[in-house]
Amino acid sequence: MLSKIEKNTRKLFHGIHSKHLAEKNSVSRLRALISSKKLGLSKNYLDNKRCLDAGCGSSFHGSINLLKMGAQEVVAIDLNKSIFSHVKRIKKVIPKNKKLTVKVASVLKLPFENETFDFVLCQGVMHHTTNPEKAVKECYRVLKKGGYAYFQICGKGGIVQEFLMDFLRKQYKEDILIKKFLKDLNKIKFTQFINKIKSKIKRNKSLETKATLQFLNSLITLVDDDLILTVQDRVLSPLYYQYNFSEVSKLMKKCKFKSIKRVFTYPSYKNLRNTVAYYYNKPNDKISKLLYGSGLINVLCKK
Ligand SMILES: C[S@@+](CC[C@H](N)C(=O)[O-])C[C@H]1O[C@@H](n2cnc3c(N)ncnc32)[C@H](O)[C@@H]1O
Repeated sequence: MLSKIEKNTRKLFHGIHSKHLAEKNSVSRLRALISSKKLGLSKNYLDNKRCLDAGCGSSFHGSINLLKMGAQEVVAIDLNKSIFSHVKRIKKVIPKNKKLTVKVASVLKLPFENETFDFVLCQGVMHHTTNPEKAVKECYRVLKKGGYAYFQICGKGGIVQEFLMDFLRKQYKEDILIKKFLKDLNKIKFTQFINKIKSKIKRNKSLETKATLQFLNSLITLVDDDLILTVQDRVLSPLYYQYNFSEVSKLMKKCKFKSIKRVFTYPSYKNLRNTVAYYYNKPNDKISKLLYGSGLINVLCKK
């Protein structure tokens, strides 16, 4: 039986993931998030291996990536049967000789024997669960000895993160206007919103007016549905635990993982994020720290 938080989490992500599948910029970004090279594994590491995609979501980008990396079978689990909505369509992009098994289960109580999987992917999931430590322990339990688990975890701090996670999340809960605006936001509505602002600008031939209009036009170009969905992910999700790398490292060690290695992935953005994408993966850079604090924390750990 799912808790209210779990039901709401799944409902939110089912909506976001269904829209991701219809957005080509999201699909191309999310289906290239991981590769053996990015994780520092040998090219054929996953060949013929059995993997778990813990918290696969409704769009299965992680599972597709694992199969592309050579895995023979991916068992994908998430909280309720909404994850079956797009499975038929997903199976069409999977090579015929590979297997995707989809199952309803919680990462907090995985229905598998100890040491079942060669590799566990838990991407963007544990910080949304009611018990992140239990999630990590369960991933450890079902992983074979010597196998690797990969976690993508929300980092804390930085101007962008604090604006979204502290300011906007609070406003979303407290301000009905902001709630309605953010909940229903999409590219069309955003364009209408900016056009309305543009219509109120007194037109004259000054450079300032020209620059203001150019700025607003570039916002229309650079804010796409992929970016809006990312903002909705950050602001609307019921639970969003945040960590710095040393907290993640401590947690992984507590759950008995060894060889904890931070991994940097380089997603390709086609929206406003492209202007600062360089800094996503440079957590020691001063500008990066200012913007993103601990940054996105991806770790590869060994059992
Ligand atoms: C941000 S999405 C990530 C989906 C996918 N891993 C990806 O990378 O595209 C978070 C997912 O975690 C799932 N989730 C949250 N709590 C969970 C739990 N206890 N067990 C399994 N999945 C869970 C949500 O339903 C949602 O689909």
